[in-house]
Amino acid sequence: MIKRPFGWTNAEVPVIGQGTWMIEGDPDREKRAVETLRLGLDLGLTHIDTGEMYGEGRVEQLVAEAIVGRRDEVFLASKVLPSNASYEGTLRACENSLKRLRTDRLDLYMLHWPGRHPIEETMRAMEKLIERGLIRFAGGSNFDVEELQGAADSLEGQRLACDQVLYHLEDRGIEVRLLPQCTQEQIAIVSYSPFGHGKFPGVHSAGGRLLAEIGERHGRTPRQVALNFLTRHPNVFAIPKTTHPDRVKENAGAVGWKLSAQEIDAIDRAFPAPAFVTALGTL
Ligand SMILES: NC(=O)c1ccc[n+]([C@@H]2O[C@H](COP(=O)([O-])OP(=O)(O)OC[C@H]3O[C@@H](n4cnc5c(N)ncnc54)[C@H](OP(=O)(O)O)[C@@H]3O)[C@@H](O)[C@H]2O)c1
Repeated sequence: MIKRPFGWTNAEVPVIGQGTWMIEGDPDREKRAVETLRLGLDLGLTHIDTGEMYGEGRVEQLVAEAIVGRRDEVFLASKVLPSNASYEGTLRACENSLKRLRTDRLDLYMLHWPGRHPIEETMRAMEKLIERGLIRFAGGSNFDVEELQGAADSLEGQRLACDQVLYHLEDRGIEVRLLPQCTQEQIAIVSYSPFGHGKFPGVHSAGGRLLAEIGERHGRTPRQVALNFLTRHPNVFAIPKTTHPDRVKENAGAVGWKLSAQEIDAIDRAFPAPAFVTALGTL
């Protein structure tokens, strides 16, 4: 699995990681989800994304099972809920996540989305957590350009490492302003729901057929083509979620090979970014 520097940080992070939203459930499903996460680690998908919200803490416990004995291999990310994101609330939420994850540190801690607590408070807590060695980097999620700027301005001695945002073939809105802004400031973009949260274009659509055709040429699947396209920009990482071992293998095969410029153009036309973006669509 290819790794890249995570924004301005010195952390080398795999281009494809693993999401964990909605992996909880009955014991069989959870067992398979944990095995899938472990297989993902074997395949180099060592960026694991979770959050206190997922399964109300249950998912962090499952992630703990998956990474037991392997903590140092993992780039471990979690998120504080906006309703908990006061200064004290953020500190407490992080400590609770660490307990559930059975670890002493997170690599990345994000505000899940901007909420009612002033961003200055949340970011002050993030700085405190870095100072205490409980987190390596602070990030945002679902921040637009202005929210990102507000968060960055609130940090006194630290920098924001990433913005984790919705980015898939049928929603390329971040390419308009956020991606250029983050690239300029060396803030990593992490694409969540890279398969549209399960709504992936099938062969009944022209776009789906195009992905299949391109995939055939490379001996790859449509989803591998999609992930390759989304991560073509060097500042973008993706965290698809699956609870199936065969699918995590598929997702791991999404990078390490190249789409041609013509193929990128064709995908760009089939799944257009908002109209006034031009340059990034052809990267
Ligand atoms: N920050 C935020 O606000 C936010 C919001 C949403 C998501 N996220 C993060 O991003 C992660 C990914 O997003 P997501 O879970 O919304 O959706 P996603 O990764 O776009 O799609 C997940 C769906 O695709 C299926 N899938 C995955 N790989 C597949 C493959 N190779 N072949 C066929 N189906 C496949 C999964 O099924 P199975 O599981 O049944 O295999 C699941 O139904 C989340 O898990 C979470 O960690 C963050």
